[in-house]
Amino acid sequence: KNKVNFYGKYQSGITTQVQKHIYFVVLSINKMSVSEVKEMFKTWTNYSVHLMNGEPVQELGKNKLLPSPDTGETIGLDANRLTLTFGISPSFFEKVGLTKHKPELLEDLPHFPKDQLDKAYTGGDICIQACSDDPQVNFHAIRNLIRVAKGEVSMKWSQSGFNSFKDTEGNIETPRNLFSFKDGTGNPSINKQSELDKFVFIQDGWAKNGTYIVARRIQMLLETWDRTALEEQEATFGRYRHSGAPIGKEKEYDEFDPDIKDKNGERLIEKESHVSLAKQSKTNILRRSFSYSDGINPNTGAFDAGLLFLSFQKSPEQFIKIQNKMGAADKLNEYITHRGSGIFLCLPGVQEGEYLGETLF
Ligand code: HEM
Repeated sequence: KNKVNFYGKYQSGITTQVQKHIYFVVLSINKMSVSEVKEMFKTWTNYSVHLMNGEPVQELGKNKLLPSPDTGETIGLDANRLTLTFGISPSFFEKVGLTKHKPELLEDLPHFPKDQLDKAYTGGDICIQACSDDPQVNFHAIRNLIRVAKGEVSMKWSQSGFNSFKDTEGNIETPRNLFSFKDGTGNPSINKQSELDKFVFIQDGWAKNGTYIVARRIQMLLETWDRTALEEQEATFGRYRHSGAPIGKEKEYDEFDPDIKDKNGERLIEKESHVSLAKQSKTNILRRSFSYSDGINPNTGAFDAGLLFLSFQKSPEQFIKIQNKMGAADKLNEYITHRGSGIFLCLPGVQEGEYLGETLF
């Protein structure tokens, strides 16, 4: 029950029911040959299978005069639904000399008008997303994957995060973000193949069954938000805080009607609400975000907290279209600042006997 299969049509951690914790890391690689990259991906495949089974990455050695092959902090723990998701960025293809295999769509994201990106949370060649229900299980997985690739990769940036949700015998409610609104309601259904084909997974080429992941480290100005009236908070999203229902409706999954009117014919939802603008883009993405809390901003004394926004889409254009629609108009902009960014091609799923990225080479 606590194990997710590493092998499958898609990589794990995309359509997997969301877990409670994430450790997301972006790595830089040294100049590597194709064969060195293949070796590293084969080793990561092997390690990932063990990690997701809740096993040490290698048999624990008996020789105490040597460093242990597994760092050991998960001894006695199970897999805790660990998923590992690997992606590669545009610069990866250049460094490895594989630019002719780079899908045209894989390009650095454009600068968006409200971006205030910090170099400390941008760039890099490879991302690894570790999600599970235990933060130490995630940390252990990333630590051991990096340890075995030592000399080939260095750490560029990372972000850990958390999600909380009510779980009534496997019936999981949509998690709330730090603005206390349910986050994920409008997603394509992870159980409907037609929606996954339409919005999430690449349908042809060597990257078939892969997807693009956009990562944005978005600071949320909690102090400002907390001084805002509940009615205005709800107007910001176009949804009610408690139930997550669209304004004017009752239940979370009732259809969102951006033009809904009251008895006097007055609009109930502002055109610049976050969800109304997302709807106007006429596309969708699979959001799988986690909250973060990183202590206190030394300059302002405020929380350094927000959302590690993660979305999966079959084309980066979907994200770009939505983000442009929100542009300067989104009511939410007053309360958030984008600080970090990355785009990666998540490799196709791996079948037993194959290794990560095999179709790329
Ligand atoms: C919907 C919060 C950033 C795209 C929502 C909802 C909330 C929310 C509460 C309504 C419930 C739901 O459907 O999940 C936030 C917060 C953000 C953020 C707190 C930043 C800290 C973004 C960004 C994008 C985005 C950067 C993409 C460019 C969407 C989409 C929907 C949505 C596509 C669903 C709209 C629909 O129902 O069709 N967001 N969001 N959000 N958000 Fe965001």
